[in-house]
Amino acid sequence: MSRAVKINEYGGPEVLTIVDVAEPAPGPGEVRVRVKVAGVQPFDIKTRRGDLAERMPLTFPATLGNEYAGVVDQVGPGVTDLAVGDEVLGSASAVAYAEHVVVPATDAVRKPDGLDIVTAGALVAAAQTASGALLELGVNAGDTLLVHAAAGSVGTLAVQLAREAGATVIGTASPANHEYVRSLGATPVAYGPGLVERVREAAPQGVTVALDAAGRDAILASAELVADKSRIGTIVDPATAESVGGRAVFSPRSPARLAAVAALAAKGTVILPVRTYPFEDVIEAHRAVESGHGRGKVVLLL
Ligand SMILES: NC(=O)c1ccc[n+]([C@@H]2O[C@H](COP(=O)([O-])OP(=O)(O)OC[C@H]3O[C@@H](n4cnc5c(N)ncnc54)[C@H](OP(=O)(O)O)[C@@H]3O)[C@@H](O)[C@H]2O)c1
Repeated sequence: MSRAVKINEYGGPEVLTIVDVAEPAPGPGEVRVRVKVAGVQPFDIKTRRGDLAERMPLTFPATLGNEYAGVVDQVGPGVTDLAVGDEVLGSASAVAYAEHVVVPATDAVRKPDGLDIVTAGALVAAAQTASGALLELGVNAGDTLLVHAAAGSVGTLAVQLAREAGATVIGTASPANHEYVRSLGATPVAYGPGLVERVREAAPQGVTVALDAAGRDAILASAELVADKSRIGTIVDPATAESVGGRAVFSPRSPARLAAVAALAAKGTVILPVRTYPFEDVIEAHRAVESGHGRGKVVLLL
């Protein structure tokens, strides 16, 4: 037997339950991974609550979890690139809060030496989201980038990857996270009323591009600061972005981009602080992410 988190209805964190399930087996081209780390995303919270029920209705009982790191423990027919015992990380589709996941072998990224497994599991979604958004926005060395929600998982990586690309970065966060945001390489600015003026003060040269991971007010502020509205990107609120001439910057999943960020993390070029919860404390982990505040990434340990 194996164990997985299931929900039987939309609702608060208390609808999350751990149940026994049959051990999954890999088919052709697939591997089975013994999960060690499962990331918790704001997306999982929205899914659990039913916020996405109109667009993506769940069939109950439903499973959750789009990111994992662990050890390959079974290999399906035709898989030659991975073997039992290999440590991997990658995306999965709403199944990763579980002791075992089965994924296409081509979606699994080999964990680089020097990267601990907890950080590896934490990186998966945020790394792909941040790197994809920066790519979509064409952030480069000449830019001054404004990152909204810079202390969160996506913001943490977006700040550092933009700095790696040579950009100057301003990051919004609550005052408690300002030293942290500064340590990532950005100038911290408090969000809330007066944001536009504070950013102008922090970046007298002007802001050329903005990445929103916070929603409406962040986008409206960006519209006052960025001249080329097509360089206002959001991963939260496409409708508001489009209303000001900006756009959504969701990129398709990319094992190649994930591998590139994992390599930077293995070298210590990028960091991602992790808040860990035992698998059995999945309800507490959801509460932590649902608070909407905090730094870095929340993961479950199995
Ligand atoms: N994770 C992903 O891969 C992914 C993919 C697509 C879309 N998204 C969306 O992007 C958003 C952020 O995701 P995440 O994983 O980075 O979240 P997270 O790790 O939970 O971080 C949320 C951050 O938002 C900050 N924040 C709260 N209110 C804010 C405000 N009014 N203005 C600016 N910052 C504010 C908090 O900073 P303080 O603690 O300093 O208040 C906190 O650090 C979510 O809506 C999520 O659904 C995420």
